[in-house]
Amino acid sequence: MNNQTITARIPKVFAPLLTEKKRIKFYYGGRGGGKSYAFADSLLIKGRMKKLLIACLREVQDSIKDSVYRLLCERIAFYQLKDYKIQESKIINKITGTEFIFKGLRDQDIQKIKSLEGVDIAWIEEGQTISKKSWDILSPTIRKDASEIWISMNREEENDPLWVLLAATPDERTLVCQVNYYDNPFCPDELKLQAEKCRLESPEDYLHIWLGQPLSVGASKLISPQSVRQAFVAKISSTTSPLVIGLDIARFGDDKTVFCFRQGRLCLKFETLKKQDVVSVADYCQGIINDYAPARVFLDSGGVGGGVYDILISRGFRDIVRAINFGARAILESRYVNRRAEMWDNARAWLTQELPVQIPPDEDLLTELCSVNKRYDSKGRLLLESKDEVKKRLGRSPDKADAFVLTFAEPVYDTGKVKTFGNGQVVIEDMFSFSKESKW
Ligand SMILES: Nc1ncnc2c1ncn2[C@@H]1O[C@H](COP(=O)(O)OP(=O)(O)OP(=O)(O)O)[C@@H](O)[C@H]1O
Ligand SMILES: [Mg+2]
Repeated sequence: MNNQTITARIPKVFAPLLTEKKRIKFYYGGRGGGKSYAFADSLLIKGRMKKLLIACLREVQDSIKDSVYRLLCERIAFYQLKDYKIQESKIINKITGTEFIFKGLRDQDIQKIKSLEGVDIAWIEEGQTISKKSWDILSPTIRKDASEIWISMNREEENDPLWVLLAATPDERTLVCQVNYYDNPFCPDELKLQAEKCRLESPEDYLHIWLGQPLSVGASKLISPQSVRQAFVAKISSTTSPLVIGLDIARFGDDKTVFCFRQGRLCLKFETLKKQDVVSVADYCQGIINDYAPARVFLDSGGVGGGVYDILISRGFRDIVRAINFGARAILESRYVNRRAEMWDNARAWLTQELPVQIPPDEDLLTELCSVNKRYDSKGRLLLESKDEVKKRLGRSPDKADAFVLTFAEPVYDTGKVKTFGNGQVVIEDMFSFSKESKW
């Protein structure tokens, strides 16, 4: 395969890699922009033209599998470049003598860094992870005349060190270029579909993941999609933990009333009612209590929820039903501004614990759980963005997620006590003047 054929497969935006003389070539953007492929192809062409020492670098490289070694091997196989010889830790061009080497920058000793002094081109992949310390060592080491440093990265934060040092205010020896999936004529349709789905469902994630914009500092998400997806995988067949029900009650026209059933590390299911009056919701909840004998029902007492609570208490369910006010003071007041932040953070901790957890695979639930931005007050306590902001972004109320987080309102332990409650039966607290509700 000749070099023209390979060049023809490199998207136009990457042409300067081969044609321009610049000390730094800095390409940034979102997923699927074609950066890795274009860098690999361009370096393979360059290495066929004359003898070069090419260092493929990243911040951490525990094994060569972490590096772009595999991508280079794949491209060599794809173009059937017989002049390249693949060795265990190097790739060599048998005709020109070009060598590709692979290194992680963190924890390099001086001797290893010295071996980079003869480098003609250094390719830094995942530039967003490079520390200032690594850059300060590397930059003077790449010292050969006409040597170049190529950087590919998806911006992580506003203050990524390489962005600040090189790209924010580039000098005349630096080329800075943004490239996204729509600039890549080879972007697979599957990736484009994923991008479009993300654009519709989670515009902020889209800006970051697909358009390569940095996450704004202090406005990051509380719950990661990965943690939710992991919990989608079925792995728990049964549990003896007490059943807890979270009940989010519709307040306005379009909201839904949602029941979430959770037993320990297994979230069993959701049940949804549309537009019901307080008596019907209370009736439905009473049916659930009778059928499933939950240890607790935590319901959102804001709005019309207070009415549902009063009905259930009057029917003798004081032992089980707890009214939760999202805006009330947190149990751990030193860490959370209110109960809403506390419950949501408990849900986050549940999802990211080491032991396996399971929830029904429900994309609406995932979108809702991952839509909430976290903030902190001046005392460093967690404070979530307001529900109105979340609603504006989602285009709906996160009812399922709220029902789910309500199951984390208080820890529930199984007392093993026989449950005597409901429909006319008197519970012990009713015989005394104090109310259990006044204590957490
Ligand atoms: N020259 C090419 N020929 C064939 N397919 C290509 C080419 N360039 C890119 N692609 C396709 O586009 C996809 C995205 O390209 P690449 O992995 O290089 O993107 P990127 O900008 O490095 O982003 P990220 O690695 O974050 O997804 C590749 O997985 C591949 O399917
Ligand atoms: Mg890449």
